[in-house]
Amino acid sequence: MALKDRVLSLLEENRGSYLSGEEIARQLGVSRNSVWKAVRQLQSEGHGIDGVTNRGYALRADSGVVSVPGIMKYLRHRDLALSVYPTVTSTNTLLKQAAEDGTPEGTVFVAEEQTAGRGRLGRSFYSPAGTGIYFSILLRPRMPASESLLITTGAAVACAQALETVSGVETQIKWVNDIYAGGKKVCGILTEASMDLESGGLHYAVLGIGVNLLKPDGDFPEDIRDKAGALFSDDRDGDIRCRIVAEVLDRFLDLYAHLTEKRFLEEYRRRSMLTGQSVDVLRGGTVTPAVVEGIDDAFALIVRYADGRVEHLGSGDVSVRKNPAESPKFHGEI
Ligand code: BTN
Repeated sequence: MALKDRVLSLLEENRGSYLSGEEIARQLGVSRNSVWKAVRQLQSEGHGIDGVTNRGYALRADSGVVSVPGIMKYLRHRDLALSVYPTVTSTNTLLKQAAEDGTPEGTVFVAEEQTAGRGRLGRSFYSPAGTGIYFSILLRPRMPASESLLITTGAAVACAQALETVSGVETQIKWVNDIYAGGKKVCGILTEASMDLESGGLHYAVLGIGVNLLKPDGDFPEDIRDKAGALFSDDRDGDIRCRIVAEVLDRFLDLYAHLTEKRFLEEYRRRSMLTGQSVDVLRGGTVTPAVVEGIDDAFALIVRYADGRVEHLGSGDVSVRKNPAESPKFHGEI
């Protein structure tokens, strides 16, 4: 690990308290001058480090730069290989490239901004700096590709629980894998997989997660303004984004160990936002009103049409939006 990262680790462990340059140098087995240079470099990267004569250095409580030590401080699954970037095109795109090059399971890319963030169904995912956090984890699951929906639905449960724990705000899952809070989408999940056509297994899956913490200055772009929301209405502690990444990863990896047992199915159902709601089922060019009766054992959406017919909808076949006539607070596709 580079010296600056080791210095940051020490400061992170003691966030808010001063450590003398001498003490840091002693603990890391380097000179005080090297510590000073490392601190200068960290400050130039934006870390809020105060230096006071006779007291030393302290990482301020409000320092908000996301870092590996900042995430590690909260992470239970210590075997992950994390990299943090201020800005990337898309953590999913980069991690898929890395996966093709043989990068192992458990590699995680985290970014504070994405310039080409991607969403489901070929959409883009708005990923500005300062108001969200965007990350992807590389998985090499030993499961048939036909079961890969479990990665997405397990991640939905992990995200819903993690965001609720960290924020205290109640969250719901909008089938199949959008996370809502206060009636707005605050988190999106995109799982991209490469399949082995001979065995029907997966070479790898890249699970990407984007969380909106705050409304961007001047609001979300107009095309997503009705639908997109933020977890918080005001700025939070400096390391809130590190906590969110750690909490989501820990909860997901707990589920991932037993994914095919579907232990999270009941929790998914409990948090299902559409259950009991009137919806429009969109298929091809047609729009059919229905009522959602629940989620089946394969995470298909059970809907009942006006003529009494019941159908189990797969996420690949259709999209569903709350019926605006029945639910006046919602507009457009959600
Ligand atoms: C969606 O809502 O349609 C899914 C959005 C997924 C966004 C995340 S952000 C991290 C990762 N990198 C991407 O380009 N997309 C995913």
